[in-house]
Amino acid sequence: MEEAATFTELDREFGIPGIASVVEGNGGLPKVRITSPRAVGEMYLHGGHVTSWKPTGADEVLFVSSQSRWAEGQAIRGGVPVCFPWFANREGDPKAPAHGFVRTKAWQLESIAQAGDAVTVSMFTESDESTKKWWPADFRLVHRTTFGSELNLELVLTNTGTTSLRFEEALHAYYRVGQIEKARVCGLDGVHYLDKTEQNREKTQQGEIAITSETDRVYLNTGNAVELEDPAFHRRIRVAKENSRATVVWNPWVQKAQSMPDFGDDEWRQMICIETTNVADFAVSLEPGRQHTMKAVIRVAGL
Ligand code: BG6
Repeated sequence: MEEAATFTELDREFGIPGIASVVEGNGGLPKVRITSPRAVGEMYLHGGHVTSWKPTGADEVLFVSSQSRWAEGQAIRGGVPVCFPWFANREGDPKAPAHGFVRTKAWQLESIAQAGDAVTVSMFTESDESTKKWWPADFRLVHRTTFGSELNLELVLTNTGTTSLRFEEALHAYYRVGQIEKARVCGLDGVHYLDKTEQNREKTQQGEIAITSETDRVYLNTGNAVELEDPAFHRRIRVAKENSRATVVWNPWVQKAQSMPDFGDDEWRQMICIETTNVADFAVSLEPGRQHTMKAVIRVAGL
């Protein structure tokens, strides 16, 4: 495993003493550990995947399953998976990996930099033979994450080829909640959505979202921030975004949780996904040489 051999070299090249180090993470996978004045956090090279963010004075914000796999070729269950170049199952290609191929791939570290009291970690992945097996495109994808009193996630896709591209993308964030039955997602009142639990039937959101059964929805044409109210943890998490036109809200509830081998049977109570995306009709078209940036900005407030 080339990755595992290089923690020390990566740390020597990119580490910032007392602030950021590259260390061995779960399953022997390398991760960047941040301890800045404003936050602690973690990001794996595997999938360019953020698994922890704890702003100073708050508890951990992200959910990671106790049953997650931590291995090359497998997706981490929780944190912020990066989905690209398609979301969920690929249309017309049942063998293609769900949510694309970058979440199970080893990314490379580009830089770690202090930005005031915050720290920005950039990782990238590029097209190669393994990606071309699934998708013929030439691309470079950067995930730039700033760990501070806000968590700022930026996905930057460059079309490095000679033909135009069309792709879907998601920052598939899993949030920890105290008790899902009491949590509410606000800010999508009146928005149309596709209900994936009913063959994508189109519906309209009435008021706040309460989770009372399996929930798997693609909210359409969304630009505004949403808020996750979590009375059990006495906090509110605000998710703002740029250049994202769809928001996915997902909770597997009881049965689906039991059917997922990398997820605890009762963990549906402790999490919700609010995903910043461009999916379905909002897939992005990008001409050769052009760049597209999608951003999520996460903040925590008391209730
Ligand atoms: C959500 C999808 O984003 O991810 C759900 O809307 C899916 O349909 C869920 O079940 C988890 O996907 P996966 O591939 O990580 O099990």
